[in-house]
Amino acid sequence: MEGLTALRTWFAREAGVGPAQVLITAGGQAALTTALRALAPPGSALLVESPTYPGVLAVARAAGLRPVPVPTDADGVRPELLADAFGATGARVFFCQPLFQNPTGAVLAPGRRAQVTEIARAAGAFVIEDDFARRLGHGGPLPAPLVADDPYGTVVHVTSLTKPTSPSLRVGALIARGPVVERLRAIQVVDSFFVPRPLQEATLELVGAPAWPRHLRAVATGLRERRDAMLAALRRELPDLVPDRIPAGGYQLWLRLPDGTDETALGTAALRASVAVAAGRAYFAAEAPAPYIRVSFADTSGTEEIDEGIRRLATACAEVRAGI
Ligand SMILES: Cc1ncc(COP(=O)(O)O)c(C=O)c1O
Repeated sequence: MEGLTALRTWFAREAGVGPAQVLITAGGQAALTTALRALAPPGSALLVESPTYPGVLAVARAAGLRPVPVPTDADGVRPELLADAFGATGARVFFCQPLFQNPTGAVLAPGRRAQVTEIARAAGAFVIEDDFARRLGHGGPLPAPLVADDPYGTVVHVTSLTKPTSPSLRVGALIARGPVVERLRAIQVVDSFFVPRPLQEATLELVGAPAWPRHLRAVATGLRERRDAMLAALRRELPDLVPDRIPAGGYQLWLRLPDGTDETALGTAALRASVAVAAGRAYFAAEAPAPYIRVSFADTSGTEEIDEGIRRLATACAEVRAGI
């Protein structure tokens, strides 16, 4: 029911825990749903980074939770404000993405990692660590997941294989130290029973194959090339939008638009030119502090399409500025 032992062992190794601390889930989204239902009572506050992944805001609202934004900067969540937010809301859960955050690409700074876990522990709360982008790095060294350095069972770790493989390979894991695993399992049984065994076996075969590390290297190279192509095109076409800090992982750029830009109008103008961008508003739990868009460089045929896409985005921006 919890998943095939061999697959649980594979996920456990990366997080530095034993297989008994791992539940196999139907991807990351199912893991988030289970974690929120297990850890946060309906009506309670859920602390989230601002901005954050809209999929977690949707799950939280569906579970009757109140997402409360905590400010971040280029180094991730700001610990002193996280402590204040726990104090002000009595929240029992903080959702975060310490590695290549969606949408900003930020990595939680080394000096903040222990602080985040400690602040949550002091508040009697859990940290849900969504590690969805661990296999989407662009080639550099990666920090260990927070759960690997958590002796107290404060961190509930979410991971998924959908992004580096296929959206249909809906296999991921929930990992936690200590008794909270039982709580997670009790909710998972109610929600989704278990992940089909043939899918788990196919996953094991995939990640155990000699070609798996090669595949991950190819993903890293492909993402890096596409990121660089998008940045080069932005420098050429829309230099004001080039981000200050270049993400070292993930598949998107988070672009701050000039004050007063209408994100929706820009999204519509871009779509008319067959370019899909995500309006920034959806990534904020409360009112957006400024206009943003998120542009993805994964779902393209290659660098030429990225070039062309940014050229068309520049035209859409000019149209919106001119009020066309
Ligand atoms: C931050 C984050 N977490 C979780 C997910 C869910 O991923 P999946 O259910 O495909 O594993 C996504 C998907 O976009 C995501 O961006």
